[in-house]
Amino acid sequence: MHKLEKIWLGLGMFSLVFFLIIIGIGAFHSGHQPAASGREYIDPELVDKDARFKEPGLKKVEGKDYDYELYIVAQAFLYSPQEVEIPKGAKVKISGTTKDVVHGFGVAGTNINMMLEPGHISTYTTTFDQPGEYLTVCNEYCGTGHTDMSTMIKVVE
Ligand code: CUA
Repeated sequence: MHKLEKIWLGLGMFSLVFFLIIIGIGAFHSGHQPAASGREYIDPELVDKDARFKEPGLKKVEGKDYDYELYIVAQAFLYSPQEVEIPKGAKVKISGTTKDVVHGFGVAGTNINMMLEPGHISTYTTTFDQPGEYLTVCNEYCGTGHTDMSTMIKVVE
């Protein structure tokens, strides 16, 4: 091998390792985690027994700065509920979790895009102003049924 070739190869390897270390320190050592939107915890084994998640769906609330709470449970490869109707103009706090692996919760045509991690509750509060049907899909690869994993949010007048 040419001497210069060796030098460049070495430099390439060095920068690769160097950047991996930086990413490693940045992501893990400093305690950063994806989906920092919610710092609530839940035992993934007990999601079905949890008062909030045992009957997932939309719940009207009083005395909060939002009108509804929407609870979403993800598991391979479906969401509960399978469909949800939200009155137009409602301010909704969405709380989602998963019973098994990491799933996504991306609502097409909006900026709602959560990562649902086992053991965590991810939350996002938003107002649904535009009537319509919003296909909601999993955007974290979770296994063979990943592409079929969806639910429908219907915003109705
Ligand atoms: Cu659930 Cu991909």
